[in-house]
Amino acid sequence: MPEIVSLASKIGRQLPSELVNFVRVAGELAANQGQSLYLVGGVVRDLLLRRPNFDLDLVLEGDAINLAEQLLQVRQGRIITHRRFGTAELQWDKWSVDLATARSETYVEPGALPSVSPGSIEDDLFRRDFTINAMAVMLNPNRYGLLIDLYGGRDDLEHKLIRVLHENSFADDATRIWRGLRYEQRLNFQLGENSLKLLKRNVSMLDTISGDRIRHELELVLEEEFPEKVLLRAKKLKVLPKLHPALKGDDWLAEKFEQARELISPNSPSVGLYLALLAYRLNAKESEHLISQLRLSKALAQILKDTHNLKAELDWLAQPGPRPSSIYRFLHDYSLSAITANLLACNSLVIYQHIQFFLDKLRYIRPSLTGNDLKRMGITPGPRIKEVLDLLHDARLDERITTKEGEIDLVEGWVD
Ligand code: CTP
Repeated sequence: MPEIVSLASKIGRQLPSELVNFVRVAGELAANQGQSLYLVGGVVRDLLLRRPNFDLDLVLEGDAINLAEQLLQVRQGRIITHRRFGTAELQWDKWSVDLATARSETYVEPGALPSVSPGSIEDDLFRRDFTINAMAVMLNPNRYGLLIDLYGGRDDLEHKLIRVLHENSFADDATRIWRGLRYEQRLNFQLGENSLKLLKRNVSMLDTISGDRIRHELELVLEEEFPEKVLLRAKKLKVLPKLHPALKGDDWLAEKFEQARELISPNSPSVGLYLALLAYRLNAKESEHLISQLRLSKALAQILKDTHNLKAELDWLAQPGPRPSSIYRFLHDYSLSAITANLLACNSLVIYQHIQFFLDKLRYIRPSLTGNDLKRMGITPGPRIKEVLDLLHDARLDERITTKEGEIDLVEGWVD
């Protein structure tokens, strides 16, 4: 006889009351039409682990879009539906809840997205990546809170294990390789013995995954609290070279990621900064390859290009005593993440100090006078305005003037 476990009190304690009320109402509505509604996936895992997670995923044995539309009558908000997948996302106030129709999936070929058909909650749990993510909680009032744990997820949480549900899991969807490493390092768990063996055997299946999907996985890694732990583990398991063979997951990377956190604290470093550090030791050609392989967004691609262009020119900043305006002109066109990556990666104190001077002070300095002020003062509209503004900016940066009056005197001198 399987143990009967209720998560009703955990839901009450750990979720905000608005979400608790919402799932109760949703469960009642589903029950009224003879359907079953479940809380599934990551939030169930995190309820059991007492980790905060308010991203609710609900699965209905029935038409999820229909239920979402009914819920919209109760909770005023926004709904986004994907009819092809039978899913809906409800948003109200600061909350967002995903609703999906229970489904079964079959993988026609490795790496491709699965073909999907409506199914039971058992089917829906069986299609999932790991046992710890394959649990559900019943939300219908007559069995509210009942844990459905068909694959030993709760046991695995207790033993700190990441286990796949079946032998083909990584081959069906090799993004699970990255997901497995993420959970392992985030939770301080370990892949189970057989799962680790399967993962190693299927590393080559990462080649079947599109650049877009791999990029998404990498972005998720870089959004983790300690991304370097995942990258070092990925290096060890020969997963990292699948992103690019020249990437290194080593002590240098770990140190730089840690320094990035110290520098950016109390916020987390951006994905762009972490990515710039990860790609820092690639040469220009390798970096270009990574950009196209992962189909990086324009902004991320620019960060990587800037990082390498700046790195190539960085020695200029090693000279003693450049004018502040020269430091500003040298750095200001590069993206902030590229500049910060170079600050962290350079190993010259002088360069470090010059970049820090730019980041802490110079980048905020602006002249007080505007283009309109200059026109009023008799400067001919056109390129001359920009020239004068640049001269004022330089004078401010170099502290040759420190007040608006000083700027006015300077301009009046030029006009005469
Ligand atoms: N899932 C899966 N295989 C994937 C992606 C997702 O089986 N390749 C399932 C898992 O059950 C997962 C759920 O879909 O729990 C939701 O996916 P996602 O939001 O990525 O995972 P969470 O566990 O909710 O979130 P996180 O990783 O941020 O904790």
